[in-house]
Amino acid sequence: MNTLKSFASDNVSGVHPRILQAMAKANDGPAKPYGQDGATARADELLRRHFGPDIDPYFVFLGTAANVLSLSSMIRPHQAVLCADCAHIAVDECGAPERFTGAKLLTVPSRDGKVAPGDFRRFLRDIGNEHHSQPAALSITQCTEYGSLYSPDEIRALADFAHEHRMFLHMDGARLANACAALDLPLAALTAECGVDALSFGGTKNGLMFGEAVIFFEPRLAAHFRFERKQAMQLYSKMRFIAAQFSALLEDDLWLANARHANRMAALLGELVQDLPGLSITRPVQTNHVFARLPRAALTRLEADWHFYVWRDEDPAKDPEVRWMTAFDTREEDVRAFAAAVRSSLDI
Ligand SMILES: Cc1ncc(COP(=O)(O)O)c(C=O)c1O
Repeated sequence: MNTLKSFASDNVSGVHPRILQAMAKANDGPAKPYGQDGATARADELLRRHFGPDIDPYFVFLGTAANVLSLSSMIRPHQAVLCADCAHIAVDECGAPERFTGAKLLTVPSRDGKVAPGDFRRFLRDIGNEHHSQPAALSITQCTEYGSLYSPDEIRALADFAHEHRMFLHMDGARLANACAALDLPLAALTAECGVDALSFGGTKNGLMFGEAVIFFEPRLAAHFRFERKQAMQLYSKMRFIAAQFSALLEDDLWLANARHANRMAALLGELVQDLPGLSITRPVQTNHVFARLPRAALTRLEADWHFYVWRDEDPAKDPEVRWMTAFDTREEDVRAFAAAVRSSLDI
């Protein structure tokens, strides 16, 4: 039994038993490779049921690959992707988007991870000027890297802004399930119905062993995708094992149950620690993230037994900020034990 006591991320979680069962079931002898099999057709059909009949879906291994490949379908090397300065594509992908698309990322400060059309207006003056990378896509993360949420109206406003200026709207939906669970909305209501052009739809953080889907809502954008996916080494020959996982996630709304549970556990953690003297919750707890500041001495005590991330600090004069994250398999007793450990680290 793994005894790591961690609130570091939703990818420290294991694999949901129903996903493992689905993989075992898919392991029943030979099947056509590279996505030509029945399991992939079934998963595509389920994605169409959730996201709309006209989507063009593709499976890849990694969230980073989903982001890079969906963006590279929409932009050329002399162009730019506009995004928040805390976007995963800007800070946590080791420059992969720049390397593989050749395009520049133009970032703006966010509010708890969120951006709005007005943040990007200053880049519009460079359109048509050959000395500047040309804005061609806008990328947002839902839920954001800080666990905050865009409403459908906010996404629509960003899509309208992008389209008005001949850009595409990309959504990094590594945790789209958590956003839907929090807003009580179906997957299409935050994507297809809001004008999103391409989506990286996360699976790994919501109970899969591996696998993400790239979904194009405007199929003409996918004209080169299959070839670029192969070049990027993301065309899995035994595709049925990714597809079977997605089918299990989408059937019977396992995706939603998992995300709801993760969100509930974060809400509980937030409630248990919010009034502790010396600790402050720094961002609204809306999904499966809890951000807090606590004195460095308390942090050091807590880190002796528990694993979590100390966030990049913009203000070293303040107490350090930490991120605590829950997942589909976080147990209530672990949340309570962790909250008690936080309490004793503060010497209460
Ligand atoms: C918002 C967001 N997007 C994309 C990813 C990429 O995931 P991967 O580690 O599978 O490349 C992550 C992973 O932490 C993430 O948090």
